[in-house]
Amino acid sequence: MSRKVTGTASKNEKLNNWVNEAADMCQPEEIYWCDGSKEEYDSMMARMLEAGMAIPLSKRPNSFLFRSAPSDVARVEDRTYISTASQEDAGPTNNWTDPVELKKTMTGLYEGCMKGRTMYVIPFSMGPIGSPISKIGIEITDSPYVVTNMHIMTRVGSRVLEVLGSDGEFIPCLHSIGAPLQEGQEDAAWPCAPIELKYISHFPEENLIWSYGSGYGGNALLGKKCLALRIASAMAKREGWMAEHMLILRLTSPEGKRYHIAAAFPSACGKTNLAMLQPSVEGWKCECIGDDIAWMKVKDDQRLYAINPENGFFGVAPGTSYETNPMAMDTLKENIIFTNCALTDEGDVWWEGMTEEEPAHAIDWKGRDWTPESPDDAAHPNARFTAPASQCPVICEDWENPEGVPIDIFIFGGRRSTVVPLAMEAYSWDHGVFLGATAASETTSANIGAVGNLRRDPFAMKPFCGYHMGDYFQHWLDMGDRLGDKAPRIFYVNWFRKSAEGKFLWPGFSENSRVLKWMCERVEGKAGAKETPIGLLPEEGGLDLEGLDISSEDLKELLEVDLKAWKDEIPDIENYFKQFGNHMPDRLKKQFEELKSRLG
Ligand code: GTP
Ligand code: SPV
Ligand code: MN
Repeated sequence: MSRKVTGTASKNEKLNNWVNEAADMCQPEEIYWCDGSKEEYDSMMARMLEAGMAIPLSKRPNSFLFRSAPSDVARVEDRTYISTASQEDAGPTNNWTDPVELKKTMTGLYEGCMKGRTMYVIPFSMGPIGSPISKIGIEITDSPYVVTNMHIMTRVGSRVLEVLGSDGEFIPCLHSIGAPLQEGQEDAAWPCAPIELKYISHFPEENLIWSYGSGYGGNALLGKKCLALRIASAMAKREGWMAEHMLILRLTSPEGKRYHIAAAFPSACGKTNLAMLQPSVEGWKCECIGDDIAWMKVKDDQRLYAINPENGFFGVAPGTSYETNPMAMDTLKENIIFTNCALTDEGDVWWEGMTEEEPAHAIDWKGRDWTPESPDDAAHPNARFTAPASQCPVICEDWENPEGVPIDIFIFGGRRSTVVPLAMEAYSWDHGVFLGATAASETTSANIGAVGNLRRDPFAMKPFCGYHMGDYFQHWLDMGDRLGDKAPRIFYVNWFRKSAEGKFLWPGFSENSRVLKWMCERVEGKAGAKETPIGLLPEEGGLDLEGLDISSEDLKELLEVDLKAWKDEIPDIENYFKQFGNHMPDRLKKQFEELKSRLG
């Protein structure tokens, strides 16, 4: 069947065949090969403006607001699959379906799914184009919104096809919003498929991604969670490196010493904010390298080096303000895609927490009139901005350095309104891996489902690990063995502990620099620590609190280790570990026994 083709196809036969097969299955009107140019971005945005999908923002040059369907506002973990030949290889924390079965179901859905639409072919690179650590992906999609977002979030363009050449390797990422258009049918403002027809599927044994039915975030921008975490984590396990849900930052002390920190917090638990930290402690400087994903390799000097494979930030809007995250606010001045934010009468975006004073009137994320009296939020709690990383005023000069930066400190953490103290250090690498493996956090709006439920989210990778979680724990232990005394030190934090009245005990944001300073001093052997059953905590006076208005009661509560509450966690950890069966490393069982005996 002959179809209109715009743009230049690749010189890679495997790729061209795959594109043709996808076109035969999905039956689009035409095929469009993306070149990644500004003209391409502008013309696609112009078409979406004309169609009423994109809303221009007069207050922010070249910036647009999109409103998604109310059913398509976040990742869908319930509909996300790791499809390996054997169910055991996906492990107990992933949804699994037999690959033959899943492909059959999805092929049925893909059949004719792009009717009346254009099929875009997006060549993209995760990591700087052409660098040995980078991976090439090709996303096929029928969503122009996805194309423009991918332009920002990844490196898209013809250069990628040049690097791919005639026989290079790529990761095929097939995406459809799952909303074919019949002849004469009017398009929806945000077409997508109903929840029960959405599938976010991964075939890690063949480095393949198939996504159907959603146009939102990690469900649809397949370079991010699907490729750079789920597929990459499985590759990393096989090849001896790490793909983690981590921000990367460079902290420079007043003496000019650099520390590189990588921190894993679950979705909507503070990575972007910490990555762009403006330290409140005198003389310290922070620069951002990445805000969501880290790829790390051991180099010849035995140290672990991290790169950020992404090109932009897909950040949580609500809560972002000049008070909390001024560097993000300055990043958002122009060239931004906003999704599910509110629209003000002045032609700007707004979201809860952005300004002290709420606008007297706005249009909410569902397109309805909104005033401060309205019962609902003006912006969806998972409203997001898509922003070029290069626009961040504190982006580090080495953020695109293919060599990466050497990691000194790992931080794990989560959102816990009780029990978990502000900060602690692990006794050893194995203890640190135990802390990562047992991390728990209250669920957030980054996933469709209940919010505020406590769940184990090991290494903030529960939704993103592309293989058996027990084997992933072992991989962390193996990496520690390889790194030996060059391994990063491991810490655990909780910015979210609340008082009995339900107010945050710790001011957070720029004040988190006080905790990072303590970590650096621990690394230097300058700060002491108190041995407790759960880990090494800051001693009294150990945190630099100069100029901070915090009551001694609040501080005491923040650093309190409630033995009874910790003992209460034991049966749950026991149960949780059991599910990993014979994949559970003995070294973590030993850590668990040691914790129990320390708790007495
Ligand atoms: P993903 O993009 O989903 O991976 O999220 P993230 O981990 O990057 O989280 P982000 O930094 O966007 O923060 C999520 C929410 O937590 C926002 O509403 C922030 O304002 C809030 N937040 C971030 N850091 C802190 C903190 O130190 N204290 C408090 N109280 N809230 C914070
Ligand atoms: C997350 O949920 O961790 C995100 C947003 O970073 S999404 O890209 O939708 O996965
Ligand atoms: Mn994330």
